[in-house]
Amino acid sequence: MPRRLGSGSLVIATHNAGKLKEISALLAPHGMNCLSAGSLGLPEPAETGETFIQNAVIKARSAAETSGIVSLADDSGLSVAALSGRPGVYTADWAERQWFEGKPGRDWYLAMGKVEGLLCEAGPDVDRSAWFSCVLAIAWPDGETLVYEGRVDGSLTWPPRGLLGFGYDPVFIPSGDTRTFAEYDPEEKHRVSHRADAFAKLVAEHFG
Ligand code: IMP
Repeated sequence: MPRRLGSGSLVIATHNAGKLKEISALLAPHGMNCLSAGSLGLPEPAETGETFIQNAVIKARSAAETSGIVSLADDSGLSVAALSGRPGVYTADWAERQWFEGKPGRDWYLAMGKVEGLLCEAGPDVDRSAWFSCVLAIAWPDGETLVYEGRVDGSLTWPPRGLLGFGYDPVFIPSGDTRTFAEYDPEEKHRVSHRADAFAKLVAEHFG
């Protein structure tokens, strides 16, 4: 019998502001008191896994063990069919750059440009299909850990379009639409995204 959630506190084990916003919105109807890993000063563990599942579990377990509170982590990314599933777990790394002042940072337009450059090298008839994956891991301080996987299929467009969302949203068109995710209202994206898919599975098990 899965453990019920629905009241009490839950740590959202992410330091990514875009994800924190989306996860908090998805949990809002379920009455949890969401705390962010950043506001609790929790360390950001190294994402050394080779799969979305491994990385989500690393983050959720680290937060649950250091906070003593049930913790939820998300690992997600973009996989491109013509690139054999890359960037996959390295989706965020493809945006890494050294800023002018010497400080590291992330530039999503750089990352989207890298993907597009590789697709262009593959030629004009390249398969532009891609998918976002999301794995949610929920970890209790006593060691129990469960994972839920979600996915949304689509294709990549160029140039980027839209100002909403985050990350690779401006180049991702979900199947059956002509708009990019960055042209979706947040509520609409929450209904169809890979994160929404994983959340629906988690909510069915632990809430209600
Ligand atoms: P990580 O899960 O923190 O390793 O980061 C995965 C990266 O995938 C994010 O930083 C985003 O760039 C990208 N990503 C994940 N979900 C989405 C999404 O819903 N829209 C756009 N990009 C996403």
